[in-house]
Amino acid sequence: MGKNLFKLGMGLLVAGGMLACQSQKNGISFEHQGDTLTIVHITNPTKYLLLPIQESSAEGKVKLDTGNPADMAMDVRLAVDSVEYYVPFELPAGAKEATVTIGKVAADAVCWDSIRLSDTFDTTNTDYYRPVYHHTPLYGWMNDPNGMVYKDGEYHLYYQYNPYGSKWGNMHWGHSVSKDLIHWEHLSPAIARDTLGHIFSGSTVVDKNNTAGYGKDALIALYTSASDEHGQIQCMAYSTDNGRTYTKYENNPVLTPFDGLKDFRDPKVFWYEPEQKWYMIVSADKEMRFYSSSNLKDWEYVSAFGKGYGIQPNQFECPDFIQLPVNGDPNNKKWVMIVNINPGCLFGGSATEYFVGDFDGKEFKCETKPEVTKWLDWGKDHYAAVCISNLDGREVAVPWMSNWQYANVTPIRQYRGANGLPRELSLYTKDGQTYMAANVVKEAQSLRKETREVGSVDLKGEYKMNEIFPATDGAYELEMDIVPNTDQEIGLELYNSKGEKTKIYLDLKAGKIVMDRTESGLTAFGEKAEPHAIENHDRRKTNSINYKNDFALATWAPLSLCEGKKYHLDIFVDKCSVEIFVDGGRIAMTNLIFPTEPYNSLRFYADGTTSKLENLKIYKLGL
Ligand code: FRU
Repeated sequence: MGKNLFKLGMGLLVAGGMLACQSQKNGISFEHQGDTLTIVHITNPTKYLLLPIQESSAEGKVKLDTGNPADMAMDVRLAVDSVEYYVPFELPAGAKEATVTIGKVAADAVCWDSIRLSDTFDTTNTDYYRPVYHHTPLYGWMNDPNGMVYKDGEYHLYYQYNPYGSKWGNMHWGHSVSKDLIHWEHLSPAIARDTLGHIFSGSTVVDKNNTAGYGKDALIALYTSASDEHGQIQCMAYSTDNGRTYTKYENNPVLTPFDGLKDFRDPKVFWYEPEQKWYMIVSADKEMRFYSSSNLKDWEYVSAFGKGYGIQPNQFECPDFIQLPVNGDPNNKKWVMIVNINPGCLFGGSATEYFVGDFDGKEFKCETKPEVTKWLDWGKDHYAAVCISNLDGREVAVPWMSNWQYANVTPIRQYRGANGLPRELSLYTKDGQTYMAANVVKEAQSLRKETREVGSVDLKGEYKMNEIFPATDGAYELEMDIVPNTDQEIGLELYNSKGEKTKIYLDLKAGKIVMDRTESGLTAFGEKAEPHAIENHDRRKTNSINYKNDFALATWAPLSLCEGKKYHLDIFVDKCSVEIFVDGGRIAMTNLIFPTEPYNSLRFYADGTTSKLENLKIYKLGL
């Protein structure tokens, strides 16, 4: 009890044969039953109990105890030595009393002095690296986008969310909505962790024909419940209030693995017109499995694809399955399976690959050999990318902008996790192969607040702009055509007064476009090995990594994906990220950066004879 400063009264009593220690402050009293359990009695509860967090603490178990067996304890890293930030824990509205039980937190931890009752929670930004125009949660942890769907003029972005700390845990579906894919409004979490497990990734469809029986146009979410007790099982929930709240189906789960697979998750559901049925694609360890259903509740196994395909060894996660015209020809459509892989990707950790082929309602036939890997993005921070359902005539994917190697330890506090800009997908052919381009959506042009038109520049040696804008908070876009006349290097450096820089250049000799963040700012964070689990559903158990080498690196893509006479570059910088789109997304590359001051200077350089930059434009971006 030593550190408890706010104690107004304190007593010792013997409760159930155990020594209990009681203290209280305004409206709250703590009954410590040793170090393993504290019962928090609250009179006239406010809206929230504010919980003090210390990220290095072990997880305590915090439960609103209503006596219902469905009460679920949340894992919370309550402060033991010092308070880093607070998270709000909602208390029952209008109640006279509430009881919260907290397990596994020592009776002398500092949190007991700092826990507070409050009707408000301040979400004013405190993070230096919070992006200006990318979607982030207001607070807490975010990973994969989930259940993205368009309905009645709104884009819904649900996401893997921990409302009780900025590290992975307590998976809920957080929720934001947008009318234009760019401006997002934060809403309350839509689906909360429950006794069946964490609410893992999944998808949402609009049930236009009322196949599930919850009404025409009900939103139906399919997600994975993940727990040690029940494993990974697919569950369903429905919403009849435009996605604000969901009711879980009373007979969950709707699908369990027939072979007891441990990794069986992330259902993506789509309507398959020729069979007039719903199909679900689920990641099943090192393959994807298809199921079909007429009512979204009863699912039948169809087939599997993927063993031995793409980068090896692999763990398939977060699938999507879409059909797109090749080179814009509506009479020549192909199916594409999107597969998110972790770990073991080209630059380490997680990334997104895809396979092009045909589907006849039974089997997916990939048109390339198993050893062919095609990447949707060539950076290191593009993961769990899936598409928005119910978009007419468009496929738009949204990634999570991080990598499991270091996602839990990026130098951010109040929140962790951002989405990459939405990308419009299309198929093009090159050298007899079909590839998928991922270009930033046209809606992103609404971010342009100021334009600086430079025009054409003859480039031999270097061309410098000491100030990209008189002041920048690190949120801008650069657009240009590079017409190389060299067989060596041509490119640019974004840098700040501290000499931190990110380099983006074409290495014509190697036939690559490269983004180099080795000297981009903070590149080694998290001293000790932190979890980025892959073995099972728990993202915290893991092996160790070397942060320095995992973050401080250059990523590259083959220029052979482009036509090659000149290269159109569209580069988006936003505080802690750089995204490049080359030639309408034939190459997309997404990387995090952590400069300690914004890059406000720009240097172009070219080796060899005079090359040209054309149509150089710089835009200051904002919401
Ligand atoms: C991918 C993933 C999914 C899983 C979720 C858990 O990043 O591992 O497979 O559903 O994250 O948060």
